[in-house]
Amino acid sequence: MKNIVVTGGAGFIGSNFIRYLLKINNDVKVYNLDILTYAGHLESLEGLDTGRYEFVRGDINDRNFLEKLFFEKQIDTVVHFAAESHVDRSIQDPGQFVQTNILGTYNLLETARQYWAKNLANMPKRFHHVSTDEVFGMLNHGDAAFHEKTPYAPNSPYAASKASSDHLVRSYFHTFKMPVTISNCSNNYGPYQFPEKLIPLMILNAVKGLHLPVYGDGQQIRDWLYVEDHCQAIYMILTSGVIGETYNVGGNNQPPNIDIVKMICKILDEKLPSSPYIPHEKLIHFVQDRPGHDFRYDIDISKIRRELGWIPTHELEQGLIKTVEWYLSNSNWLNSVTGTDSFQDWISINYSKR
Ligand code: NAD
Ligand code: DAU
Repeated sequence: MKNIVVTGGAGFIGSNFIRYLLKINNDVKVYNLDILTYAGHLESLEGLDTGRYEFVRGDINDRNFLEKLFFEKQIDTVVHFAAESHVDRSIQDPGQFVQTNILGTYNLLETARQYWAKNLANMPKRFHHVSTDEVFGMLNHGDAAFHEKTPYAPNSPYAASKASSDHLVRSYFHTFKMPVTISNCSNNYGPYQFPEKLIPLMILNAVKGLHLPVYGDGQQIRDWLYVEDHCQAIYMILTSGVIGETYNVGGNNQPPNIDIVKMICKILDEKLPSSPYIPHEKLIHFVQDRPGHDFRYDIDISKIRRELGWIPTHELEQGLIKTVEWYLSNSNWLNSVTGTDSFQDWISINYSKR
């Protein structure tokens, strides 16, 4: 692993991963390939060592651009985060998810396959695909957690597009012996997450005294993982994972959504003792549910624990406190990513009719 391209490195997990990688490995050169959609922010990468890090703006669907990049930078490792990642947006506009998540992954795979076959035939290489637990569908109370062999049953256009990309990646291993690994991870939270997702949106709204929109009855269950733990898992898969294998990654933290929102409110009550909005819980509003809302996810992480020795290191409460503190002390970042027409448009499209 010498020249790594991280796709989607200006997004939430990608930017955290680049920071983690540059900290833990002094020998790699990291190319952040990102088109900078509404979800990509170069502010999330400020202050990085520019000797070992370079931003390259481009589209994973642009084959000429990809071929040039792989050739010029002699890319031997791909860590593929770039995607449309928000379920609610996939309900509004599924086409963009097909384009980016399915076709984009195909174009990236095909570029890597051809470049590696011609130029790095006998060298170590890796294509790591970052995916989601949502490909497995939904659980009810008492159902067994998702494991690596659970059949795929995606329910949203987002989940279906990620499932499709996972199948493509798998097929490139099976058919072309391409050195791939896949990780399927649960809900991440932490610094630099765009406030369209539950946790940062609740922090942002609560601080401003705005309603906290909880979908349905708030009883849905996700598994929550602090983003740095996810980055560590990906790094361990890159360095010790078995080619062709899939690893489930999760946080062993599964309260219902309403409990998460209440925890955030309590933390804010303590951190902002002079806020006029205390108790912040008063801001909670139950709103119309997400169409097709998956009830529960739970992920079995015994394979990655057993084979690679990875376990999550953050308890939910500790991770939430760190996250709230980060958002409170990074108002410049928050203002810059939310002070756009596109953010306000999204809030009005998604919430005004609920
Ligand atoms: P994000 O939406 O924050 O970031 C996505 C990034 O991809 C953005 O920087 C965007 O500009 C970039 N991008 C989009 N289309 C592109 C294109 N055509 N070419 C180049 N770049 C493009 O996403 P995230 O939450 O950081 O998720 C990253 C990956 O991890 C996704 O593949 C997602 O499916 C997966 N994942 C996310 C979570 C989670 O909880 N956020 C959990 C499990 C898996
Ligand atoms: O499970 C992994 C997935 O987690 C990732 O693959 C996705 O990229 C990521 O976006 C996330 O998907 P979710 O739909 O679970 O995340 P979100 O933060 O949008 O919602 C979390 C839960 O909170 C979900 O049950 C819906 C609910 N919710 C969300 C929002 C934005 C609300 O109740 N109110 C809201 O305003």
